[in-house]
Amino acid sequence: MNSFIVLIFALAAYACAEPEIVPVPGGKSGSGITTRYWDCCKPSCAWRENLGQSGKTVPVRSCTKDGRSTCDIEQETGCYLNSTKASYMCSDQGPWAYNETISYGFVAASFKGGDDNSKCCSCVVLKFQGALLGKKLIAQITNTGGPLFQNHFDIAMHGGGVGPATFGCWNQWNAPFGGWGQPNGGECDQLPSDFQSGCRWRFNWLGVDNPDVEFEEIYCPHELTRITGLAAYACAEPEIIPVPGGISGSGITTHYWDCCKPSCAWWENLGESGKTVPVRSCTQDGRSTCDIEQETGCYLNSTKASYMCSDQGPWAYNETISYGFVAASFKGGDDNSKCCSCVLLKFQGKILGKQLIAQITNTGGPLFHNHFDIAMHGGGAGPATFGCWNQWNAPLGGWGSPISGVATVEECDELPSDYQAGCRWRFNWLGVENPDVEFEEIVCPQELTRITGCS
Ligand SMILES: *[C@@H]1O[C@H](CO)[C@@H](O)[C@H](O)[C@H]1NC(C)=O
Ligand SMILES: *[C@@H]1O[C@H](CO)[C@@H](O)[C@H](O)[C@H]1NC(C)=O
Ligand SMILES: *[C@@H]1O[C@H](CO)[C@@H](O)[C@H](O)[C@H]1NC(C)=O
Ligand SMILES: *[C@@H]1O[C@H](CO)[C@@H](O)[C@H](O)[C@H]1NC(C)=O
Repeated sequence: MNSFIVLIFALAAYACAEPEIVPVPGGKSGSGITTRYWDCCKPSCAWRENLGQSGKTVPVRSCTKDGRSTCDIEQETGCYLNSTKASYMCSDQGPWAYNETISYGFVAASFKGGDDNSKCCSCVVLKFQGALLGKKLIAQITNTGGPLFQNHFDIAMHGGGVGPATFGCWNQWNAPFGGWGQPNGGECDQLPSDFQSGCRWRFNWLGVDNPDVEFEEIYCPHELTRITGLAAYACAEPEIIPVPGGISGSGITTHYWDCCKPSCAWWENLGESGKTVPVRSCTQDGRSTCDIEQETGCYLNSTKASYMCSDQGPWAYNETISYGFVAASFKGGDDNSKCCSCVLLKFQGKILGKQLIAQITNTGGPLFHNHFDIAMHGGGAGPATFGCWNQWNAPLGGWGSPISGVATVEECDELPSDYQAGCRWRFNWLGVENPDVEFEEIVCPQELTRITGCS
């Protein structure tokens, strides 16, 4: 719990402009080789017993079958044929480009050859050589492996080949037995939505097979530890704990995705709510964290701007429970009084029994009383004509219509890779347009606050 508090307070306090590459004095360095993999298995550094040598205390986060919901660290791995309620590599532990020369990512590594947990959760900068000279990967070590050589970095990238772990992706995603593609390849479009941008990174950013590197141990940036650093709660049961004396009642829902930095990402909007850390917002890539002082990308004149992070969208935990984020108003119009509070939305009518566990990250002038505008990718930009256009070169006014967004699940294919799962959620999980809800304020689960940093 303490490490979590430290994590969130540290999180909002750094800038989006410059990735920090700070060498560890006396740290590892040298020349090395790279390969690539994605075997879907819970990584080595996600086991307590493997952290001993490294001096680390919080294992790498691992996930349930959906690749998003956090698993208990005691959960067995989904890597074997006999796995049942198992734990897998989280889908967000893949690479993304910060710009043309710098990427972030995760690697399996060995410094002595073979299994080597001595540097679990340490970070390295991999300086690519040869045709890629000048490109760098800022990476956290989350895994190791028997087949690795000395100074060997096996870069985690979706569709990168499963190696000897034949059953992992087959168990998790019904992937072809032995994973997608040849054990050393893959076809990005056939992968789960959350895997596609990490898969394309190899072809679009890296562009070369298994480049050699010069490497140097560096202090881990928050940009990586925020993804791996939270492992202390259970995957089995979402926690729904009502806030005594919290708000409750009947409400309406709509949906939106305007790409704009949300209201609760501004210090000055947190006043009324008593919260102290604003919602995380992102650079144009939708993944790298922005400084909270960064202006919003919502207007025509925006330059170095801040946007809604792509991971602040919905996902299904199972058929009846989803997690997500909403813009809300309780008094009608702009209403920041409940910034970063959480609610349970119990859907009524045709989808009675389905529930959304949601954090309030935004508000808006056009909202009514007890109105929850559910954030879902491709959900309609409303009056914010320029946000998605600035961020993604979306059509002016966003994808689909400003009010209802894209009209069919097929149109989700036209959205950025990181948006597709959240877009399909509307058609595949929710299934009805703007259902009414009964709502109740609940204690925010870490499953949501780890994404926004606000609680
Ligand atoms: C990428 O970002 C780094 C750090 O801010 C900067 O030094 C570098 O010049 C950038 N590369 C490009 C191609 O913009
Ligand atoms: C599952 O199979 C693996 C590999 O064969 C074995 O190590 C493990 O003990 C088995 N687990 C159970 C619960 O049977
Ligand atoms: C979804 O998960 C919740 C909490 O673990 C459980 O109560 C519910 O029965 C599950 N629903 C389905 C359809 O499995
Ligand atoms: C950009 O436009 C918005 C809306 O028209 C305005 O509020 C803001 O002050 C402008 N910012 C700059 C830097 O010109």
